[in-house]
Amino acid sequence: MLLIWTCEFDTHADFIVEQLEKRGHLDRVFRFNTDDWPSKFDLTSTHSESFILDKKTEKRLDIKDVDAFWYRRPQRARQALAGVDLPLNEIEKDHIYFSSDEFVDGIMSELPEHVLSINHPDAVRKWSNKIRQMKQLARCGIKVPESIVTNNGRVASDFSSQKASCIKPLNFSAFIRNNMSCPLWTRKILEGELEGIENLCPSIIQEWIEADFEARVVVIGNNVFIFVISIDAGYDGSTDDIRTVPEEFRSYRIISSTSIETTAIFACRCLSLNFASMDVLVKGSDVYVIDINPIGQWLWLQHAIDVDMSSVFCDFIEKSFR
Ligand SMILES: Nc1ncnc2c1ncn2[C@@H]1O[C@H](COP(=O)(O)OP(=O)(O)O)[C@@H](O)[C@H]1O
Ligand SMILES: [Mg+2]
Repeated sequence: MLLIWTCEFDTHADFIVEQLEKRGHLDRVFRFNTDDWPSKFDLTSTHSESFILDKKTEKRLDIKDVDAFWYRRPQRARQALAGVDLPLNEIEKDHIYFSSDEFVDGIMSELPEHVLSINHPDAVRKWSNKIRQMKQLARCGIKVPESIVTNNGRVASDFSSQKASCIKPLNFSAFIRNNMSCPLWTRKILEGELEGIENLCPSIIQEWIEADFEARVVVIGNNVFIFVISIDAGYDGSTDDIRTVPEEFRSYRIISSTSIETTAIFACRCLSLNFASMDVLVKGSDVYVIDINPIGQWLWLQHAIDVDMSSVFCDFIEKSFR
């Protein structure tokens, strides 16, 4: 049985469920949309068992029967309970949100050892923290650009005055300005920009790598797909963070590279991940790992160029079915 931990709007889960259905596995997929909880599902846990009950179909999934677990895109209880009418004050609601999050996290973390976890919730939680991730990769001997994380403007300024550097947030964030979402991208620090600033929002200040190219690497088990992103010469805007380049100026091609492949597999092993979507910068023979996302998106790459990662993903899951 495959348990998908996600929400209603998840094109990756939609696509894979459809592929698995075509392979005749309809009865082996249990999709738990956290935004349908508690309205459509009940969760129960004792010392010896935990189960999810679909209230409508009365289909019951015992956690002990799970062969494969796919951590895709669960929403926190705050979103899940948005449509539920609660005649309670904010503190009382917070208590429910907190209890709900703890409950789901507790159940998902008790997946039996033999389960193929893509990825295990504990690993996702641990390695989604960028500081932990960078330190662990560096400890394992993987090249990570030299970095300093600080809230002290002077420390940041000193670091960036010694080498070309960029600043990046500790996690994805966006401000709302004029009703528009303005994400905080990674960007180069301009000369003297941080001088005189005492207090800084805790941020990562990192050595800027003038790379030969950047690649998105998708690891599925032992399979590695390497996509090189090229920027059209006609683009004259800022390219500090490659995602700020409009789609029409970007192109992707798939390459093979033993050094990137070996680095990617090793990085996953260092973080106990079965799957990852990672960003690497390649400069000469050096492969820098700058970002590993244990629940990253990859379907857009399959749609952008003709490469069948979803079959590999389904094969990976299918092998775990008892
Ligand atoms: N040290 C760096 N040197 C050069 N470019 C970088 C560096 N760090 C990030 N970038 C650029 O910024 C993008 C986003 O940075 P990343 O570390 O992946 O953060 P995020 O978590 O926001 O994805 C990268 O894909 C790359 O284009
Ligand atoms: Mg990234």
